[in-house]
Amino acid sequence: MSDLMSLMRPRSVAIIGASNTPGKIGYAVVDNMKSSGFKGHIYPINPKEDEIGGLKAYPSITDVGKPIDVAVLCVPAKVSVPVAEECGKAGVKHMIVITAGFKEVGKEGRELEQKLAEIASKHGMTIVGPNCLGVMDTHTPFNATFAKNMALKGNIAFVSQSGALCIAILDWSLKEGLGFSQFVSFGNKADLNEADFVEIASQDPNTKVVCLYLEDVVDGPRFIKAARKATKRVPVIVLKSGVSAAGAKAASSHTGALAGSDTAYETALRHAGVLRASNMTELFDLANAFTTQPIPKGKRVAVITNSGGPGIVASDAIELGGLQMAQFSDETLKLLEEKMPSMANIHNPIDVIGDAHYDRYEIAINAALADPNVDAAAVLLSPTAVIEVDKVAEVVVAAKNKYPDKPVVAAFTGGAAVKDAVEYLKEHGVPSYAFPEPAVATLRGLARFAELKKAVEHGEEWAFDDVNKEQVKEIFEKVRKDGRDLLLSPEAAEVAEHYKIPAAPSRLATSEDEAEKQASDMGFPVVMKISSPDIMHKTDVGGVKVGLKSKEEVRAAFNSIMDNSKKAVPDAKIYGVEVQKMMPKGDEIIIGMVKDPTFGPMIAFGSGGILVNLLKDASFRLASGLTKREVDEMIAETKAYTILKGFRGAEPDDIPAISEAVARVAQLCRDFPEIQELDINPIFAYPKSLSALDVKIKLA
Ligand code: ACO
Repeated sequence: MSDLMSLMRPRSVAIIGASNTPGKIGYAVVDNMKSSGFKGHIYPINPKEDEIGGLKAYPSITDVGKPIDVAVLCVPAKVSVPVAEECGKAGVKHMIVITAGFKEVGKEGRELEQKLAEIASKHGMTIVGPNCLGVMDTHTPFNATFAKNMALKGNIAFVSQSGALCIAILDWSLKEGLGFSQFVSFGNKADLNEADFVEIASQDPNTKVVCLYLEDVVDGPRFIKAARKATKRVPVIVLKSGVSAAGAKAASSHTGALAGSDTAYETALRHAGVLRASNMTELFDLANAFTTQPIPKGKRVAVITNSGGPGIVASDAIELGGLQMAQFSDETLKLLEEKMPSMANIHNPIDVIGDAHYDRYEIAINAALADPNVDAAAVLLSPTAVIEVDKVAEVVVAAKNKYPDKPVVAAFTGGAAVKDAVEYLKEHGVPSYAFPEPAVATLRGLARFAELKKAVEHGEEWAFDDVNKEQVKEIFEKVRKDGRDLLLSPEAAEVAEHYKIPAAPSRLATSEDEAEKQASDMGFPVVMKISSPDIMHKTDVGGVKVGLKSKEEVRAAFNSIMDNSKKAVPDAKIYGVEVQKMMPKGDEIIIGMVKDPTFGPMIAFGSGGILVNLLKDASFRLASGLTKREVDEMIAETKAYTILKGFRGAEPDDIPAISEAVARVAQLCRDFPEIQELDINPIFAYPKSLSALDVKIKLA
């Protein structure tokens, strides 16, 4: 048993601030521990009492004289600091600090919390909280919370940043009959945080699914690592509230403007293999489904119904939600044709029609689930006067048990007429909903998890060993020495070249002669642009000349660009004139990077050019751990992909070269954390290869 697991399987629990006064938290925790069925030792601690709740009480935890795994602190904040010191002396492994009044109340509280963390670290203890409801495990069992009730025994681990939400969920779950394995409120995260609880829950043999309510993540990379590891064994579902600070902070780059307020979490959670719920209902619908349903092999859904309308609603939800309506095999169609009345629809959705009795459902459900082209089924029922609703529920359950590899959900629509059947379905592991859409949403969640799990299991980072890190380092050092954080275009193009990111050749010329030589070397025609960090709008000052086809034109352009620029911005620091090979027009794309303070660099891909911010066609992935699969996925998600594939008969662009460029940009950003922002826009994509026209790199 790992040390963290002993938090959930303690052999002894001390309650400091235990009280004989009903209505006090110290009273409730003792009462909950006693009634939880806990088999270990309970030590109430209170300097004024000899006995609490019929148990021997001790004046201090240091007086117990026996090993203590967990100490629950329910003493006021100021008292909790010396008490924590005593816990350390008594050899306590974990402190659950229910007490409020720490960092959530301001500077003084923050300092107290810091002290608590220091004491814990000094003594090798962990802290849950402070400012939390506590922790329970229904299988140990133990209940070290001040909640009104103990959760029902089950297989969902619920881990929440909000204690109040825990109380609400707990109460609701009792009414719904939903069971939990672990129930954790982790409060201010002075020590243990979401990553630890994902780890703890995913190692628990009684947990089949981990549900998290998060307001923020303290250590992004650790959380991702823990969640990816967990996902290989159990699904992790997150409900995230609040807006990320990263998105709110406006970045100056194009890529920064493309990232929405939620992009970082969306991107990170997907990479972590975490399923994201958009509300509480969805969170628990999914959690419930994962405890009763297998993970489907694919997205093909069969729908069985006795009425047209709900069948259409379900079909729409399936198509819109990225699932597929299954196409039945010839054998299935033949069987259905033989057994169903001629008016029935034997194609998906199977409509057994309004006069159906339960036997038609039995035939249809079994035929659909036996079909190798079907991965999951949704059974819809409208309670007509002729249908034996309870019998249908029985045949659904029997079919589910016969085909345990395929998820089955139900939508027995209505209320009173289907109440008992719905109860029966739920009791026998078939989630049933009042309408078809949530039933389909559950199937979508199951299928989505199958995809996420596959992605995590085949998750090797895409990296190249033909890059030249040393040369890039030198360029960055030179830029720094020059007192800049923004690279000049030719410098940035050179960085790209060292990482084999195809960029249009670009050089800096400081004289007419140099410009002429560079243009001749790279080949005409060329474009020339003023190179100065102080001149933002180069065209406006006459600092850009395009389509220069000869040495003479290049020499003349050099002089006129220098003159125009000096005249327009006399104080500007001018490095010279950039000479860039003029590239033939291609399809315009952007590859960029923006940094998130929690999750690190995020790579963007999308439609490029001057309309970037208007089109807002971009997808994001984390640079860290970026896989080939993710790169292909992110390209395919954009509208740009439609054009790159060859729109209206056009020759397709070099998509493999684009994928590689994305992966190389990610590697550059991983190798050089000092890159603060990166924009490559536009990149011209061609049927063979691509060419970056404008590379912008800003250092931190
Ligand atoms: N060791 C052991 N016991 C002590 C010590 C000590 N060093 N010092 C005091 N005690 C005893 C007290 O004598 C008292 O026992 P008594 O009832 O026999 O007199 C008991 O510990 C509690 O101390 P009080 O001073 O009476 O404190 P009280 O119970 O009023 O408050 C509490 C303590 C509940 C921890 C309070 O400070 C607090 O933080 N309340 C908010 C808790 C909260 O909301 N947490 C977040 C939950 S998440 C959510 O929002 C749902």
